[in-house]
Amino acid sequence: MRETVGGKRVLITGGLGFIGSALARRLIDLGAEVTIVDSLVPEYGGNRFNIAGIEERVRVNVSDVRDEHSFRYLVQGQEILFNLAGQTSHLDSMTDPFTDLDINVRAQLSIVETCRQVNPSIRIVFASTRQIYGKPETLPVDEKHLLHPIDVNGVHKMAGEWYHILYNNVYGIRACALRLTNTYGPRMRVKDARQTFLGVWIRRLLQNEPIEVWGGEQLRDFTFVDDAVEAFLLAAAPETAGSIYNLGGAEPPVTLHELAELLVQVNGGGEVRVRPFPPDRKAIDIGDYYADFSMARRELGWTPRVGLEEGLRRTLDFYREHLGHYL
Ligand SMILES: NC(=O)c1ccc[n+]([C@@H]2O[C@H](COP(=O)([O-])OP(=O)(O)OC[C@H]3O[C@@H](n4cnc5c(N)ncnc54)[C@H](O)[C@@H]3O)[C@@H](O)[C@H]2O)c1
Repeated sequence: MRETVGGKRVLITGGLGFIGSALARRLIDLGAEVTIVDSLVPEYGGNRFNIAGIEERVRVNVSDVRDEHSFRYLVQGQEILFNLAGQTSHLDSMTDPFTDLDINVRAQLSIVETCRQVNPSIRIVFASTRQIYGKPETLPVDEKHLLHPIDVNGVHKMAGEWYHILYNNVYGIRACALRLTNTYGPRMRVKDARQTFLGVWIRRLLQNEPIEVWGGEQLRDFTFVDDAVEAFLLAAAPETAGSIYNLGGAEPPVTLHELAELLVQVNGGGEVRVRPFPPDRKAIDIGDYYADFSMARRELGWTPRVGLEEGLRRTLDFYREHLGHYL
C-alpha cells in the first residue's frame, strides 16, 4: 500500500465528506501528499471537522467539481485521483434531478475529459454505488448483474461510472470503479437521512429518541468505513485499470430490523418502532441487497474485517464525543 500511494501526489474530490476524509487520514499516514477539493454544500456530507487533527497536513481547496476551470488547475501534477464528490441523496435526486445530473454526470464527464486534456497519466478510482443494480434479480449480486437503476441518482451514478470506464478503454486514462454498498462509521452524516438512514438512527438514539424502521425485513450488507478506505487504496494499483468491483460487508447480511435491534443493544438502550414505508421512499426502495464481492477479494486482495457490532460500537463512541459538530 505504501508503495502505491506513499510519496504520491493525491487529489481527493469530496475529501471533506465521510469516506473522503477517512481516506485522507489514511493517505497521510502512508506518506501521501494530499489535496482535497470539496464544495461544502450544506446539504451534503462535507464537514470541516472531518479533518480535525490533520488540517495542517492536507491542502484543502473549497471549490466545486462543476467548475471546470478550478478543477483543471487542481488536477495538474496529481498522480492519483480518488473521485468521491457526489450528490448522494436518492430522494433529493427525485425532487431535484437536474442538480444530481450536473454533479453526478456532467461534472464527472468534465473530470475525466479534463484529465485527458491536462493529465492523461493520472490514475483514478471512482466511488460508484450498488444503487445502479436497482432491485436485485438474484442474490448475492455480482458485477455481471444487469444494471437497471430505479431512481435518478442510480441512473446518474451509472453514467458517471461508465464515463470513467469509457475513458479508460478509449483514451487509456487508467480508471477503475468501486460499487459501494451501505458504508457507515465515524464522520457519516447524522443530521438527516440524505446519506443513510443509519446516521439518523444513531443521532436519534444518542438524543434519546425512538428510531423508526420502515418495513424492516429488507436484507442489507454494511461496510465499515475503514474497510472501504482499504479498498480505495488497493484499487489505486495500476493493474486495476478498467475494472469494476463490488464492495460488501464483513458479515452475512442482516435485516434492517435486526440492525436496529443490534444498534440499540450496542448503545445499551433505546427504542425501535417499525413503521410502513412512506410512499415516496417505497417507490425507490431496492428491497433486499447484498453483494458478491469475491472479485475484489480475488483481484484486489480485499477483505472487510470490521464486524457490524464492532463497527457500530466505534461509530457510537465517536458520536458520543463529537455529536455537536454534526448537528
Ligand atoms: N456512504 C455510502 O454508503 C455510499 C454508498 C455508495 C456510494 N457512495 C459514494 O461514495 C462517495 C462518497 O460518499 P460519502 O458517503 O462520503 O458522502 P459525503 O456526502 O459525505 O461525501 C461527498 C462529498 O462530496 C462533496 N461534494 C458534493 N458535490 C460536490 C461538488 N459538486 N463539488 C465538490 N464537492 C462536492 C460533498 O460536500 C461531500 O463532502 C459518493 O460519490 C457516493 O455516491 C457512498
